[in-house]
Amino acid sequence: MGYQGNFRVWRGDEDGGGLEDFTVEVNEGEVVLDVIHRLQATQAGDLAVRWNCKAGKCGSCSAEINGRPRLLCMTRMSTFTEGETITITPMRTFPIIRDLVTDVSFNYTKAREIPSFKPPKDLAPGEYRMQQIDVERSQEFRKCIECFLCQDTCHVIRDHEENKEAFAGPRFLMRVAELEMHPLDEGGRTVAAQETHGLGLCNITKCCSEVCPEHIKITDNALIPMKERVADRKYDPVVWLGNKIFRR
Ligand code: SF4
Ligand code: F3S
Ligand code: FES
Repeated sequence: MGYQGNFRVWRGDEDGGGLEDFTVEVNEGEVVLDVIHRLQATQAGDLAVRWNCKAGKCGSCSAEINGRPRLLCMTRMSTFTEGETITITPMRTFPIIRDLVTDVSFNYTKAREIPSFKPPKDLAPGEYRMQQIDVERSQEFRKCIECFLCQDTCHVIRDHEENKEAFAGPRFLMRVAELEMHPLDEGGRTVAAQETHGLGLCNITKCCSEVCPEHIKITDNALIPMKERVADRKYDPVVWLGNKIFRR
C-alpha cells in the first residue's frame, strides 16, 4: 500500500542553498532513489541527482540520508516509518555542483598520486605466480565501487578542508595497502603511505568501514596492517640499519 511520505531535500548550488520540504508518494518495495525520481517527475523537474545503475554497483548515487552517508539506490524506504521526515543532502566533504550532486574530483586527484603496480623488471606478464591467500587479500579491496562514501565520512577531511592536501583518504590508503601487500610489487610504499598519503592522520575510528556498501573491512584489513608495516620498518633494527647504510 502506498502512502504520502515527508521529504526534506537540499537544493542549491556552490553559492548556497537550503532544505526544501516535499510530500511524495511512496510505494511498497521502493528505495530512496525511486522517490527522488518521482519527485523529479512530478514536482521538481530540475532537481539534480547523479545515478546510473540503480543496483549498488556504479557508485554514482552517493548522498547523505538523515546525515548518514548512503547509496540512494540501496536504501530501502521500508527502513523508515511512514510518519518520519527523511532528509536527503549531498555529500558534505566535497564541493557542491548542484542539489544532490557534488564534485568528487578530489578523489581522482588522489588516485593519480599513487604510483601504479611495479612488478620485477625481468618478469613477463604470463609468468606472474601468486598464492591463493594473496589473491584473496586483494580481491576484497577490489570490490570497491568508488562511491566515495568512506571518503565522505572520514572525520580527517569531513570538516577539515585544510587536511585534504596531506590525506588521501581511506579508499586510496586502501589502494596503497593493496599494492604493498601484492607479493610481486616492488614499489616500496610504506614511507610514501606515511609521508605522502597521510596514513598517520588516520586514527582508526573505523567510520569508513561502517559506511562501505561493499562491507570492505577497510580499517582492519588495509589501514591497520599498513600502519603495522610502517611501524615495523621504523623500529626493526635491521631495517633501520639497512636504511642508514643504503639510503645516504
Ligand atoms: Fe565506497 Fe567502500 Fe570503495 Fe569506500 S571502499 S569508495 S565506501 S566501496
Ligand atoms: Fe578515517 Fe577510516 Fe581512519 S574513517 S580516521 S580512514 S579508520
Ligand atoms: Fe549505481 Fe546507486 S545508481 S550505485
